[in-house]
Amino acid sequence: MFWLLTLLAYLIGSLSFAILLSRLTGLPDPRASGSGNPGATNMLRLAGRRLAIATLFGDLLKGLLPVLLAARLDLSVQQQGWVGLAAVIGHLYPLYFRFRGGKGVATAAGALLGLYLPAALLAVVAWLAVFRLTRTSSLAALIALPLCLPLLAWQQPGALLPMSLLAVLIVWRHRSNLRALRAGQERHF
Ligand code: G3P
Repeated sequence: MFWLLTLLAYLIGSLSFAILLSRLTGLPDPRASGSGNPGATNMLRLAGRRLAIATLFGDLLKGLLPVLLAARLDLSVQQQGWVGLAAVIGHLYPLYFRFRGGKGVATAAGALLGLYLPAALLAVVAWLAVFRLTRTSSLAALIALPLCLPLLAWQQPGALLPMSLLAVLIVWRHRSNLRALRAGQERHF
């Protein structure tokens, strides 16, 4: 059951809402415009608030639903974490879109929400605080997600390994943002 659910999570994670919604509304592929990232932030730049919010919720649900299903099926917290990670890997390397996906922040937030609500709330509060101060989505994500790890280590140690790998993957996917941040050229709102 665990492996089946992990595969299912990857397949669900591969549904990129930014790409799908852009195609549905006749907009250009978000991978070719703005930051080139198929995610809610770039959709806000390219398509406006409504489609950005739809992308955010769609991508968030991709992480949340598989983890909730895993919990429902009585899988261990660590297995729930691997399932959440599989959904994020689907978002990063989507089967249906030539393995060219996004950076995984919203899907990771969804997985975290399913795993341990207080950690997800901490991430949201940290994201909002950093974003308010800096108006920079990437920086907010790069601070907010790793910040949850100590709380998970303390309260949900079973989820620590998969969620740490998830955080490393997300930082890795933000390497162009890190370069831009260092050079003072990152996009702000
Ligand atoms: O959630 C993605 C965000 O962290 C960065 O997006 O488009 O500014 O590279 P973007």
